[in-house]
Amino acid sequence: MKIVLVGLLSSSLAILLGACGGDSETTGRFPIEITAERVNAGQTIYTQYCASCHGPVAGPSVLDSAPVHGDSGHTWHHPDRLLYEWVLDRPPLATVMPAFRGLLSEQEVLDVLSYIKSNWLPEIQQRQQQGSAQYESQIIEDRAG
Ligand code: HEC
Repeated sequence: MKIVLVGLLSSSLAILLGACGGDSETTGRFPIEITAERVNAGQTIYTQYCASCHGPVAGPSVLDSAPVHGDSGHTWHHPDRLLYEWVLDRPPLATVMPAFRGLLSEQEVLDVLSYIKSNWLPEIQQRQQQGSAQYESQIIEDRAG
């Protein structure tokens, strides 16, 4: 089911992108794939750069104002592309969360998000994955329209 969905999505993306010239730069990055390699790399990055404020993914956080990234938090309510942009350039209205652009590579941000995602319950992973895919198709429609 998942494979069929992803297959359908990527073929329609290819058609739409072909039609409008597309941005091949970010195509295929979202939804972020969870692989053992990324999760491994991401865990190290998380421990080094994120845990000092956010605590372990499942919580509790170290800084009161830093949200927990696990199932009980809100992180999974957001699509992958936004999470990625927020880690690179800060979430909207953030006052404490630093921007990691220049400190972490784009690949490292994908890795750390892959690690965070891997901690979620399977049904939460699936819902968030669907939301991320839906967000991508909306962006493509907006650009094409
Ligand atoms: C200096 C403390 C600090 C560090 C380090 C930090 N964060 Fe944050 N983060 C925050 C705070 C506090 C917020 C809430 C927004 C605000 O007030 O700035 C936040 C918000 C976020 C959000 C948006 C809220 C959500 O979960 O949906 C994400 C995603 C996030 N952080 C991911 C990360 C990742 C990934 C790292 C490591 C690469 C990291 N943060 C490192 C303090 C931190």
